[in-house]
Amino acid sequence: MRLKAPLIALALCAAALPAWAQEPAAFAEAKIAAGKAMFESGCHRCHAPNAKDPSYGPALTGIVGRQAGSFEGYEYSEALGGAPFVWTPAALKAWMEDNQHFLPGTKMRHVGITDTAVQDFIIAYLRTL
Ligand code: HEC
Repeated sequence: MRLKAPLIALALCAAALPAWAQEPAAFAEAKIAAGKAMFESGCHRCHAPNAKDPSYGPALTGIVGRQAGSFEGYEYSEALGGAPFVWTPAALKAWMEDNQHFLPGTKMRHVGITDTAVQDFIIAYLRTL
């Protein structure tokens, strides 16, 4: 699977780092970098990370903690527009795993990211938007 390559690269980098470089802060940065690479390969073609850029899907600025279906000016499906929940990390994970099952009727094509590490990395990156 295409999304796995950055993960493998990250694992190799972590193994090559000396102990002093494996501090939590460095790890957090590496997670964000890996998540960014995964976002670019799996999400970016439909989602501009920046609210100002138009794209097929809604912008994901501030998505962690954002009300579902609330990006102003975007035409959501009936299922997602005004849906009564907030995008928590758990909701985002369930969405990435099987968005069509999570919210039947959504117009986002199935993505199917089941690897929880990959989900964590993408969420780490989404938090920076
Ligand atoms: C093929 C295009 C496409 C891809 C690829 C895609 N999305 Fe989407 N996404 C959409 C569309 C279209 C919607 C709006 C769905 C609706 O209105 O039902 C959406 C909606 C969303 C929402 C809800 C936003 C809101 O405002 O409530 C999130 C979160 C999301 N996508 C995350 C992701 C992530 C993370 C990825 C990559 C793992 C991804 N998407 C990949 C097209 C895509």
